[in-house]
Amino acid sequence: MQYSKLVEVAREVRAKAYAPYSEFAVGAALQTKSCDVYAGCNVENLSFGLTLCAERSAIASAIANGVRDFVAIAIVADSKQPPLPCGACRQVMAEFNPNLTVVSATVSGEVQEFLLADLLPHPDQGVLEGRRHV
Ligand code: THU
Repeated sequence: MQYSKLVEVAREVRAKAYAPYSEFAVGAALQTKSCDVYAGCNVENLSFGLTLCAERSAIASAIANGVRDFVAIAIVADSKQPPLPCGACRQVMAEFNPNLTVVSATVSGEVQEFLLADLLPHPDQGVLEGRRHV
């Protein structure tokens, strides 16, 4: 599989997740055009709504390193089926690449590949359309 290394990084960073409330640890790894990788995990909070998903955590890491040209993201969780990013993460990913490849994998090794464009077909926001600065 083309993204097996990326999935491996997501699997490794998952061990660092801070998820004491849901006990659902998630790891994510973003790959750039030049094949650099930025990892992230979910960070939960006592005030549940403040939880940061693994995907946005990986994006924050890449952005803080001056990188925005993402081509793929791998997500790993111990779920029955490969995990799908939530709506908020889909929107945040679409800001940088609406055609991102999303590789979802379970800890047990089931892998599914999606296009963000299929998971979030209309990311533009009405009056704000055309104001994206990537
Ligand atoms: N979570 C992620 O980090 N990414 C996903 O794609 C699915 C959900 C986190 C949020 C929360 O900490 C826990 O998993 C349960 O929803």
